[in-house]
Amino acid sequence: MKKEHFFFGAASSAHQVEGGQMNDWSEWEARTGHERSGTAADHWNRYEEDFDIAKKLGHNAHRFSIEWSRVEPEEGRFDEAALEHYVKVVQALRARGMEPFVTLWHFTLPVWVARQGGWESEKTVHHFARYVGRVAARLKDDVKFWIPLNEPEIYSHMSYLVGKWPPAAKNPFRTVSVLLRLARAHRAAYAVLKGIAPTAEIGIAKNHMYFEAAGKNQWNEMLKACADWWWNFFFLDRAKDSLDFVGVNFYFHNRIDGWFNKNRNEQASDMGWELLPETLYHALAELSRYQKPLYVTENGLADAKDVYRAEYITEALKAVAHARREGVEVRGYLHWALTDNFEWADGFFPRFGLVAIDYETQKRTIRKSAMVYRDMIKKWPNI
Ligand code: FCB
Repeated sequence: MKKEHFFFGAASSAHQVEGGQMNDWSEWEARTGHERSGTAADHWNRYEEDFDIAKKLGHNAHRFSIEWSRVEPEEGRFDEAALEHYVKVVQALRARGMEPFVTLWHFTLPVWVARQGGWESEKTVHHFARYVGRVAARLKDDVKFWIPLNEPEIYSHMSYLVGKWPPAAKNPFRTVSVLLRLARAHRAAYAVLKGIAPTAEIGIAKNHMYFEAAGKNQWNEMLKACADWWWNFFFLDRAKDSLDFVGVNFYFHNRIDGWFNKNRNEQASDMGWELLPETLYHALAELSRYQKPLYVTENGLADAKDVYRAEYITEALKAVAHARREGVEVRGYLHWALTDNFEWADGFFPRFGLVAIDYETQKRTIRKSAMVYRDMIKKWPNI
């Protein structure tokens, strides 16, 4: 495949970078005394500067999310200025030769939606479809790639099972019900988008975990089959008829040896997540069963000192190349993240950016690994 047919870039989400949010998350941060997302990376005001950097780094694509609470701050009232802002964001990407990948929901809800029960209420599916329609009508001419939902399974587990994210529930029944409702929301959004923009390419950003069964051991293999069924394929099986591509968010290798998480942890990120980027190959190979184009929509690590990132990206891209050589149709790689950002329950300490942010001054500094990524992009596919 020729170079111009492969997308390279990075990703972000509104709540994590924009600053100035007034959604269910910021309300929860204030109420619980959690670290506040505040101005975050001030990307709302500095997106052009950030896109200039991305362009300099050789990116030809960028994934970002639209903040529902800005576009529809009150039920049924759509804010033209907010929509106009996102039109400008898309134009700023296009002007720099970058393909926009637009996420429509990345974990945050308008407060009024959360008050009505959030994803526990069927009404939210209808509200979401209406919001998607409004955004699509404005952006359809400039956006080809749409991602209605980000990581439904991470969200349902963190918000309804582990209880670390709002609304901080710990209930398996609510977890499953939210996951199923998100599947309906995805299908509804797909139908609305296709109605407005028939040539749109619509996918999902799906968290895929690579479960590795150690040895040739039946018990380990059975655990892997169960974990794959629930974590990797349950949602996709329910959404697969409404998917033009599968976006893969990949961070986790999970070694099963008697039980889960028997990782060797020879290298770990600042979050304690084991670093084994070559296992991205397995994630891609496993997802090829859907016979849809794949895009890596997130992959990265928290590494404040930037000691592992260059090698991590190199190995991840080699894994992508390996999968492609075996006929897996991978069409893009978007690193998480372009800049440092607010990492949900963990606040600002994790440093995921190709570009460092000084939160006091909002100064951007390109990390060395970002230049290694740029050189890999130049060399591609001869890496
Ligand atoms: C993913 C999320 C993203 C970011 C990375 C580190 O689960 O989609 O917002 O927090 O993890």
